[in-house]
Amino acid sequence: MRAAVLQERGGTPVVVDHEEPSEQAGAVLIDVDTAGLGGWDVVGAYRESVDFPCVVRGEGVGRDQDGRRVYFGERSVLPFGALAERTVVPVPEVWEVPDGVDDATAITMAIAGTGALLPLEATRIEAGDRVLVVGGTGALGRIALPLARHFGAGRVVAAARDADALADLKSAGIADEVVTLTGEDDAARLRDASGGDGFDAVLDLVYGAPLEAAIAATRWGARIVNAGTLAGRQVTLGPGALLFRTLTTIGTGQRPPAEREQIWRRLLQLSTEVDLSMPTTHYALEDAATAWQAQVASPHGKVIVDIR
Ligand SMILES: NC(=O)c1ccc[n+]([C@@H]2O[C@H](COP(=O)([O-])OP(=O)(O)OC[C@H]3O[C@@H](n4cnc5c(N)ncnc54)[C@H](OP(=O)(O)O)[C@@H]3O)[C@@H](O)[C@H]2O)c1
Repeated sequence: MRAAVLQERGGTPVVVDHEEPSEQAGAVLIDVDTAGLGGWDVVGAYRESVDFPCVVRGEGVGRDQDGRRVYFGERSVLPFGALAERTVVPVPEVWEVPDGVDDATAITMAIAGTGALLPLEATRIEAGDRVLVVGGTGALGRIALPLARHFGAGRVVAAARDADALADLKSAGIADEVVTLTGEDDAARLRDASGGDGFDAVLDLVYGAPLEAAIAATRWGARIVNAGTLAGRQVTLGPGALLFRTLTTIGTGQRPPAEREQIWRRLLQLSTEVDLSMPTTHYALEDAATAWQAQVASPHGKVIVDIR
């Protein structure tokens, strides 16, 4: 079968002929139709637990051997993964896709949707809150911003580095205000963008210096939740930074599969009630390296790889 294979940690995938997965107890053999990439695929040194070479893990939608249309997450039995014509995935990680849900939506509402929804809920948004999403132009951010409004936020602000992508969010009405992070006066400009004396709630998807600036742009009582590390894995906080504020990091992938499946089904329902539409760019499997590079370069939406 054709498969996009990572030869080494930190490498770019190469599309090669790869051995096929075979039937095995407790797992489902899947013919993959569509695969997705996300920030978690390319961040840092890929997964510490992965041996190389391996197929790009990704997530996807395909058909099991009974023809059932299923979603599967980044849990393929190693060395297999979503960016291949076939994979094999543990039974609890294989979820039937409801009729009427297209492949890209099924994929987008899974890891990205869950990664946005749960941390956002942990910010405990109250009616009228001023909410900041750092990393607002990415896949998780594009889901979190409309959900924040849906949960009652009075003002929704997005921050990231790319001014054009931010301007698109503002002109589409997805964000009330946007802040281009430059490393210069970020905290002061974020505070100004709050429209008051600082944010009540922050969803931070990048960590590092942007999180430090975001915390400095909050008011007393603020709830700050982190869910990603694209801007670094360290922050420096003085003793006053968290005075009368809380900072939490939320993980979603570590939760049991049944819980993640339930959240995914909730998001599929939410996506019919709230506009969670996402810019998507499609690539052929043979162009997996280009798709990977697009994800590394920050795609401002979802990277989808059409397998067949
Ligand atoms: N905790 C969980 O359960 C969970 C679940 C899923 C994902 N995640 C994590 O969430 C993060 C976001 O994932 P994603 O798929 O949304 O990624 P993405 O689509 O690549 O989006 C990343 C966002 O962060 C911004 N960004 C990237 N590097 C930045 C930097 N150095 N400084 C400031 N902004 C930066 C990007 O915009 P610009 O390029 O314009 O700056 C974009 O808005 C990843 O770290 C991922 O691992 C966590």
